[in-house]
Amino acid sequence: MATLIAPSLLSANFLRLEEDCKMLNDSQADWFHLDVMDGRFVPNISFGLPVISAIRKATTKICDVHLMIEEPGKYAEDFKKAGADILSVHIEACPHLHRNIQQIKALGMKAGVAINPHTPVEWLKDVIADIDLVCMMSVNPGFGGQKFIPHTINKIRTLRSMINEADGSALIEIDGGVTLENAPGIIAAGADVLVAGNTVFGSKDPKATIAQLKNIIHS
Ligand code: DX5
Ligand code: ZN
Repeated sequence: MATLIAPSLLSANFLRLEEDCKMLNDSQADWFHLDVMDGRFVPNISFGLPVISAIRKATTKICDVHLMIEEPGKYAEDFKKAGADILSVHIEACPHLHRNIQQIKALGMKAGVAINPHTPVEWLKDVIADIDLVCMMSVNPGFGGQKFIPHTINKIRTLRSMINEADGSALIEIDGGVTLENAPGIIAAGADVLVAGNTVFGSKDPKATIAQLKNIIHS
């Protein structure tokens, strides 16, 4: 499978969000990565349901919603209504993770689990066969534009073998600090989806940068 590109709208220009959505629609981007932060689970607040509903109207591409919030189960139905196709919750925020996963699936969304850089991937062992996506954080969540944590590469390799052993179909998404320089190594380690915020929106020609990320994959 070709690697998927999921630009993070956290780095978009919120004063011209519609233009940025159009740019992504015209680009080779596969998913829209939407980062929701509550100022409690992470030390930052981003955007929430009304913004996601608006973005939903501006694209037919997959809306990949990454919840960095406490008690995500309380809001799963609202995010479905807002238009999420994939909903990821953090393992560190979910003492009843299995229940959260079942709830997301019952609502008709793909279920993702996000894990922080310090959390062992082995903690996913008993749910890995049930989920559609692992959002592996390669920076500490909360902010765009941070530096990729190199140890993530080992975690990708471990997770890839766990998924194979469980005969699972979860995609591995790498989130944080992805650049044109480190993307080849991330893909080689076994990633399926690359999130890119600053690399895409901070570039002079975002569409060309997305195409470049895609080209690494096809080369
Ligand atoms: C970080 C978010 C990321 C972030 C990635 O908490 O989950 O999705 O926007 O941004 P970059 O690619 O700039 O690291
Ligand atoms: Zn994210």
